Amino acid sequence: MGENTAVKWVLFFFFPALFIYGLLHVYSSKPAQAKRTAELTAEEEAGRKVYNKFCVGCHGVNGDGNSEAAKFFKNKPPNFHTAVFRWKSTPEGTLPTDDDLMHVLNWGIPQTPMPSFKLVPEVQKRAVIAYIKTFSDRWEKEKPGKSVYGSIHRPDWFGSPESIQKGKELYATNCTSCHGEKGEGDGPLASTLPVPPTDLTYPVRAAGPKPEDTFRVLTVGLEGSPMPAFNYLSEEDRWHLVSYIAYLMNKGK
Ligand code: HEC
Ligand code: HEC
Repeated sequence: MGENTAVKWVLFFFFPALFIYGLLHVYSSKPAQAKRTAELTAEEEAGRKVYNKFCVGCHGVNGDGNSEAAKFFKNKPPNFHTAVFRWKSTPEGTLPTDDDLMHVLNWGIPQTPMPSFKLVPEVQKRAVIAYIKTFSDRWEKEKPGKSVYGSIHRPDWFGSPESIQKGKELYATNCTSCHGEKGEGDGPLASTLPVPPTDLTYPVRAAGPKPEDTFRVLTVGLEGSPMPAFNYLSEEDRWHLVSYIAYLMNKGK
């Protein structure tokens, strides 16, 4: 092999090959992949139609939450490509269950723009849930976490005057910085947060209608939002807090 041939070999074969290898590498290591429309199953395709009818205006064509409408919201829609969900009953770092997603669709998220889709037929909601999962391949690689609902037991002293009083004291030390002294969402930290702390005196709970739903928020937190998990407080203390919050919500009614 003459010197010339070696140079030609490097220029015309080796470098192009290296370049193509590099390109392949970049494309194959892309994070969280969304499924292509052509690859959707029949249910996911049905869900895409439901999504484009009811959800696209706020959640965006690509499911990343970047819609025109979202610019005007204080509570931003999630980015379905990261598959990080706030409103769920599974531990931090894990995917929500289908029941969690169905719960959000039926209840909505009061005090945020997310409406309730209670009147939309169940089969369409199942389909749209299947569709929003196609935005992230985490759903193919991971299983949903274990829901804490199975281990929640409401004590019979829930809502008693003593429990409300204990909850009030726990609230004063753990919650006022964000939710404010009276629970109105106006604590000293509130203006520094990316999401407004919920007004806990509002007559409808964002997490759901049952005391168990509030208990769940205190146990697993709202992942990706400033609302932390309080699972280091005893179960009893968390129930006292739920008693107090239920009292705040019903006060004056
Ligand atoms: C009017 C605007 C709007 C419409 C319409 C809407 N959403 Fe939402 N959605 C939001 C906003 C804003 C949030 C974030 C609320 C928050 O966490 O503070 C949200 C949150 C959610 C969540 C919970 C995310 C989490 O972090 O746990 C799910 C799931 C969801 N939407 C699905 C849907 C689906 C499916 C549809 C259509 C059937 C839909 N949304 C229609 C605005 C909307
Ligand atoms: C660091 C600030 C911060 C602290 C401390 C905090 N919260 Fe929150 N909390 C938030 C924010 C912000 C939200 C709304 C998150 C969202 O919409 O994504 C929230 C939401 C909630 C919700 C859900 C609202 C609903 O209607 O279901 C409950 C319940 C709640 N907080 C209770 C508490 C209690 C009780 C404490 C104290 C034990 C507490 N929070 C401490 C920031 C905080």
